[in-house]
Amino acid sequence: MAELATASVLNRVAALGTQRWAVHFMGRQRALKDPDFIELTIGEPDLPMATDLIGIAEQAMRSGRTRYSVGKGEPALLEALARKYSARTGRDISPAHFLAFPGTQAALAIVMQGLVEAGDAVLVPDPNYATYEGVVRMTGADFVPVPMDAANGFRLTADQLRDAMVPNAKVLLLNNPHNPTGAVLSREAVSEIGSVCREHGLWIISDEVYETLIYGHLFASPFDEAALADHTITVSSISKSHAAPGFRSGWAAGPPWVMDRIQPLSEALLFGNQPFIADMTVHALDHPGTVGAQMAAAYQKRITTLMKAFERSVLKPLKPQAGMFMLVDVSATGLDGEAFARRLLENGVSVMPGTSFGTQAASFVRLSLTVPEDRLLEAAQRMVAMAS
Ligand SMILES: Cc1ncc(COP(=O)(O)O)c(C=O)c1O
Repeated sequence: MAELATASVLNRVAALGTQRWAVHFMGRQRALKDPDFIELTIGEPDLPMATDLIGIAEQAMRSGRTRYSVGKGEPALLEALARKYSARTGRDISPAHFLAFPGTQAALAIVMQGLVEAGDAVLVPDPNYATYEGVVRMTGADFVPVPMDAANGFRLTADQLRDAMVPNAKVLLLNNPHNPTGAVLSREAVSEIGSVCREHGLWIISDEVYETLIYGHLFASPFDEAALADHTITVSSISKSHAAPGFRSGWAAGPPWVMDRIQPLSEALLFGNQPFIADMTVHALDHPGTVGAQMAAAYQKRITTLMKAFERSVLKPLKPQAGMFMLVDVSATGLDGEAFARRLLENGVSVMPGTSFGTQAASFVRLSLTVPEDRLLEAAQRMVAMAS
């Protein structure tokens, strides 16, 4: 039988999956055969999550919290989120502002689907997190990169946003703190960017998964600015803050009227997250615990080690202000990020080429900080040796 027809969405996302991850997959093949191979491609918290959270989830499962949830999410979870965001913003944020999702990723996809469609455009700072293009293209909207500049540490500016503006722009997909660059926006920058969005009638979807992994800088969000909150939807999770990505526990926070309207989309796909995970997340939100601080300390130490390892090399690291990754400019080797990453595989290390995150970081590679310090140092030494 001839191939049956599929929807055009599959064409729109066809190029996104395998191409971006090609070096990672090649590295994974090598790592399976060679125990000395060092993978620095993907980032997952390498500290174990807090055992008290596992205990709470287990106890909840044993006590029957394994039934269906409700569409918005468990009431106790929405209350806990309201406490967190009321404290953070200084405003009265109620449970009506939230929808629970199994992770930030699901929240991004559903919120985006609720805001844009074919004919609209979504502005996305470049470089950007590798799944963003798929999130936008799924909806049929145009994906419009906003070029950022390595010279100012890839921190988005209001002028860059203005320059990239298109008439059909409807959403800015903001990520602060930023993956892959580790850049953190100041409150002033967030306000200026927010004002441009306001001027042009844009929603802001603000991905804040790295809110707690910041090194010596202050976190800022458009959701926290009273003047921007009515056109901002924040998405986040406990994946990074509590080293618990496998639990898939996240949420979206926005004006109650729009969250109400997005709810049927969420119900069509998910019907909230699981009650036992919601119970564990309530505890996580009310008790930040020590794992987040331990992770932040470990990553900061690894950043210092890497900065030192590259000190006398032609490889130029961009010191991250947040998150679990570091960009390194490899252009002085005469190779671009892609060619460098491919050659580095021969030297026993896999890193992500900057092109996996857009066009602006093409001369960079991204290293994950989520391996033990001695392995990270060894990887950096192999990079330096290859570059010299
Ligand atoms: C910027 C960014 N957004 C979203 C996610 C996905 O987070 P979650 O586990 O909450 O779906 C990640 C994970 O690496 C990320 O880096």
